[in-house]
Amino acid sequence: MRILVTGGAGFIASHVSDSLLALGHHVAIVDNLATGKRENLPPAATFYEVDTRDQALHDVFRAETPEVVVHHAAHIEVARSVREPAYDASVNILGSLNLLECCRAYGVRKVIYAGTAGALFGEPSYLPVGEDHPIDPLSPYGVSKHTVEHYLFTYRVNHGIDYVVLRYPNVYGPRQDPHGEAGVVAIFSLQMLAGKQPVIFGDGTKTRDYCNVADIAAANVLALNTPVSGVYNLGRGIEVSDLEVFEAVRIAVGSEVVPAFAPVRPGEVRRIALDASKAERELGWSWKVDFIEGVSGAVEFYRDQIKREQS
Ligand SMILES: NC(=O)c1ccc[n+]([C@@H]2O[C@H](COP(=O)([O-])OP(=O)(O)OC[C@H]3O[C@@H](n4cnc5c(N)ncnc54)[C@H](O)[C@@H]3O)[C@@H](O)[C@H]2O)c1
Repeated sequence: MRILVTGGAGFIASHVSDSLLALGHHVAIVDNLATGKRENLPPAATFYEVDTRDQALHDVFRAETPEVVVHHAAHIEVARSVREPAYDASVNILGSLNLLECCRAYGVRKVIYAGTAGALFGEPSYLPVGEDHPIDPLSPYGVSKHTVEHYLFTYRVNHGIDYVVLRYPNVYGPRQDPHGEAGVVAIFSLQMLAGKQPVIFGDGTKTRDYCNVADIAAANVLALNTPVSGVYNLGRGIEVSDLEVFEAVRIAVGSEVVPAFAPVRPGEVRRIALDASKAERELGWSWKVDFIEGVSGAVEFYRDQIKREQS
């Protein structure tokens, strides 16, 4: 199948691209390298250094004629979205609209969209959170990511383009940069490996639902083959506190460090865990990677990365 992946020089979509290529699909990647890195690009993919907001995106679609688009390109920094909501909206909403217009113009059959679950629901009224939970984003990032879900619905109704929204929990694993919405494992790993003392915002009891990037890539592959359009929460349904993440990383690194504490940042929920039973029922998805094992794999990646940079 001819597939166009946006954001494929970034953390998650580079893994998704690897999985699609391994299955024999033709993959073209669009990325403006705002946060993505060339070294993440799979050599077998065709790369276009193009901004999703740019008119040049049409040329990519004309050249590639993709059947399916897997859309991950986004601005992902929650704190920056609070400071610069117009920038966040320009990338996440206008970039997505330009992409959807290309999908319409060049006959794309389906769009798979990387949504957010962590930044969507506000402070949950129950756990684990299902798709029907009220939506009350605390940040402009949550608003911009959710807005695209509505556009996808309208493009299905008006133009017959199928879609699957995969609402991600906190994704972690190799290649994650220590920036953005959910990079705690990456941040703690790199700081501890450098002998620094990581900071926990709050008292360490704040919880998130952590899912390994390998499980998230698998969900994208399943979304490719499903005949239905829909919205799916992904996650393990397990709350992991900041202190538990700290401990898991500390043990994997073999460090003796203790955390420093700082005030909670704006736009952050206290607790979240996601109910992925709809994804299990309809897509056949379930998570496989245990958190402790996954953290240890991520730490190994950062250890090797540091060695590569030093040599
Ligand atoms: N990391 C998480 O835990 C998480 C959680 C929920 C949702 N998501 C979503 O998953 C997707 C991927 O996130 P990630 O963690 O891999 O982040 P990332 O920053 O590693 O990847 C985003 C990619 O998009 C590219 N990009 C940004 N703006 C662009 C533009 N205007 N045109 C073209 N390319 C552009 C960046 O260069 C980067 O390669 C995003 O849509 C994000 O909202 C991530």
